[in-house]
Amino acid sequence: MKKIAVLTSGGDSPGMNAAIRAVVRRGIFKKMEVIGVKHGYQGLMDGDYVPLGLGSVGDIIQRGGTILQTARCEAFKELAGQRLALNRLKDSGIEGLVVIGGDGSFNGALALTRLEFPTIGIPGTIDNDIACTDMTLGFDTAVNTVIDAIDKIRDTATSHDRTYVVEVMGRHAGDIALWSGLAGGAESVLIPETEMNMDDIVARLLASQKRGKKHSIIIVAEGVSTGHKIGEVIHERTGFETRVTVLGHIQRGGSPSAYDRMLGSQMGAKAVDLLAEGERGKMVGIQNNQMVAVDLSDALSQEHKLSLPLYELARSLSI
Ligand code: ADP
Ligand code: F6P
Repeated sequence: MKKIAVLTSGGDSPGMNAAIRAVVRRGIFKKMEVIGVKHGYQGLMDGDYVPLGLGSVGDIIQRGGTILQTARCEAFKELAGQRLALNRLKDSGIEGLVVIGGDGSFNGALALTRLEFPTIGIPGTIDNDIACTDMTLGFDTAVNTVIDAIDKIRDTATSHDRTYVVEVMGRHAGDIALWSGLAGGAESVLIPETEMNMDDIVARLLASQKRGKKHSIIIVAEGVSTGHKIGEVIHERTGFETRVTVLGHIQRGGSPSAYDRMLGSQMGAKAVDLLAEGERGKMVGIQNNQMVAVDLSDALSQEHKLSLPLYELARSLSI
């Protein structure tokens, strides 16, 4: 394989630039030409391609977002859009593609593979909601961003004896809420994987008040409810002075953590190695600290499983 391309698609995540850099440098190391596709699948269809040299990915390993930019593109979900992209790729002499994105983007990568175009996926999303990999690119940075916010909120919560509800991202997966709740010492964590039990949350708040605790932090994943709704119920049922913080997109930005730079570097290089070996339709993952290649179809059909023992641990440590 002499010429490959890389694109980022769906929601951006910190560490995508580290992965792009690794794809480019590993590709050049293996004597390949590497092309960057701008704006995800939209750019793939439009032929929005730029050659990437060693220097073009200098000074990006520490930057959040994606230098290739990203997009959501409905037209690529249709066969006509996929065929258009395929023709553009072939006209440009590109023989393989690395797609960095979430499960939606992987559906696109799988569609290209089924049309006989060699494609490899790298799981890039802050949500950590992809099966067959222990971590996704950007999750660690997002959790660190949330912990930083919780630490700051705790300062003011303690000063005012207030209850805080912090809403974090995660439509279908509670990993950000669980990990940041555990690492940030939150009193309760609400995640989509378990049934919401407001009676339990209220009982825990009242019990801790009885013990003399005057402030609390409750983390709610956006997939469960809004922070404001939860805050209202808590105030109504306890009378506690309650404030709500919605962290929103700050969780998606920022300089990637050391872990995400490492993960992006390893996954990017592995994706190129797989293409060079003639593999296609695979996702690069990390399992037990080792790089692995799994079928994209498996990663898509299996369900990501949040660690319930971690959830139990969080509950037992926040009594
Ligand atoms: P993420 O990759 O972060 O999950 P999305 O779900 O928004 O983000 O998907 C990103 C893009 O992937 C979509 O805008 C679309 O271009 C492409 N995509 C999603 N689903 C499919 C599909 N079933 N077939 C082909 N392409 C898809
Ligand atoms: O998939 C990542 C994610 O950050 C989700 O947690 C969030 O719900 C969503 O993207 C928001 O996406 P956007 O605002 O880009 O549509």
